Amino acid sequence: MGAGKSTLGPEVAERLGRPFIDLDRELEQDLGTTIPEFFEQRGEAEFRLQEERHAIAALRLPDPAVIALGGGAVQTPSIRHELRDRTFTVLLEVDPDTAWQRSAGGDRPLAHDESEFHALYERRRELYDEVADAHGYDTDDIVLAAAGVEVHAGALERLGSLVPGEGAVVLVCDPHVGGIHGAAAQVALGPRLASVHEVPQGEAAKGAGVAERLWSELRLDRDGTIVAVGGGSTTDVVGFVAATYLRGLSWVPVPTTLVGQVDAAVGGKTAIDLPQGKNLVGAFHWPVRAVVDPATLETLPEDELAEGMAEVVKTGLLAGAPLWKLPATELVRRCAAFKAGVCLRDPYDEGERAMLNLGHTFAHALEAAAEYEGVTHAQAVGLGLLAALRLSGRETDVVDEVLAPKPVRVDRERAWSALRRDKKARAGELRLVLLREEGPVLESRPDAEVRAALDELIAK
Ligand SMILES: NC(=O)c1ccc[n+]([C@@H]2O[C@H](COP(=O)([O-])OP(=O)(O)OC[C@H]3O[C@@H](n4cnc5c(N)ncnc54)[C@H](O)[C@@H]3O)[C@@H](O)[C@H]2O)c1
Repeated sequence: MGAGKSTLGPEVAERLGRPFIDLDRELEQDLGTTIPEFFEQRGEAEFRLQEERHAIAALRLPDPAVIALGGGAVQTPSIRHELRDRTFTVLLEVDPDTAWQRSAGGDRPLAHDESEFHALYERRRELYDEVADAHGYDTDDIVLAAAGVEVHAGALERLGSLVPGEGAVVLVCDPHVGGIHGAAAQVALGPRLASVHEVPQGEAAKGAGVAERLWSELRLDRDGTIVAVGGGSTTDVVGFVAATYLRGLSWVPVPTTLVGQVDAAVGGKTAIDLPQGKNLVGAFHWPVRAVVDPATLETLPEDELAEGMAEVVKTGLLAGAPLWKLPATELVRRCAAFKAGVCLRDPYDEGERAMLNLGHTFAHALEAAAEYEGVTHAQAVGLGLLAALRLSGRETDVVDEVLAPKPVRVDRERAWSALRRDKKARAGELRLVLLREEGPVLESRPDAEVRAALDELIAK
């Protein structure tokens, strides 16, 4: 009661692309009266019976929905049973004083006396904990929980309890990250840890040879889990191995770069590279959990942090909020939650997930023209964001101030032909993610305009 379920519920539903059902409101419509009136006329016991009927029907709906339950519904054993066995249940946390302030003075039948209210809160607490799959304070927390993403400073130390299941666990890191965070991960995994494996540092991890070696090294049954601790290169290859070994095993990325925490480890895309190009082989394979510990960023070099800031600025522009100004843990939480929501709405990249490519069409073209030498991904994304904003008729100050990208020296013709080959081209027509008043849209622009925007990013 007073936690904010009816306020946050519609927001969560929108972020997840699911319908919202407010059980108390539905119940009132069905009863033809308000809950306080029903309580008054027929009593709590009769109300709970009506509530049970409605709640069970809603919780058994075949199509996914976001459902706000009445605060007392957990007292009914059959509802608790459904919440434990059938639904993903998030306990929206609120401290009892705030809950009382929000509830007192209204017409809620069980919020008339402060000490009774607090006693009720205590009695219900145990029942809430019994059914909750996750806990959260706001919409972002709930979206993250729905995506299986745990963001907490210090989460690495709790890795053992955060890897779902009971089976054996194998750990994969690159030697550098293994040297810094490997011991903490091993200790946290405890007796479930069956073996430790290495992948090369950086993009070299994403080769078919590395995937093949991991396939042959693994000794896991189908109840095993692969844990990848490291940057996006490590989590991409390990996710791909998890997607394919034994036709798909559970996996848990533990991203230790900013790119990994706000982007690569969220959303279920896994990939390896081919000589013909990056990420050409891969699978959608959603991790059973992603364990994001922003404290691991403390050991990350500045240039790697800058790589991540480019994705943070992109995310903030898409979300319409200056997320780049937030302190590390909150910045990671908000960015990861934004991406998680988009990916839950479009898990197989068939529609709106394309918005996450804001600026990336230009970035990839510049990187390809430079043959991935001499241009960092962050620089390229920063420049790509400039072009996307200019084509959208928007100011570019944020990108200039936070990322300060400088034009790069690459061959103009090569960059243009790389951009024309972009995978978002349909029937030969290039489509770009642009940022309009109503939000991001995929739009075709005349070649001359796009080419001029690309040329502006290239040093004379
Ligand atoms: N799957 C996706 O949705 C997705 C999204 C974005 C990027 N990616 C992929 O991610 C890759 C890039 O990932 P990245 O930017 O994380 O780089 P990375 O994984 O290549 O790591 C960069 C370097 O940072 C080091 N490192 C990692 N964590 C550290 C830490 N905490 N302290 C000190 N050093 C640390 C690593 O050893 C490595 O040398 C690319 O291959 C890209 O394609 C995938």
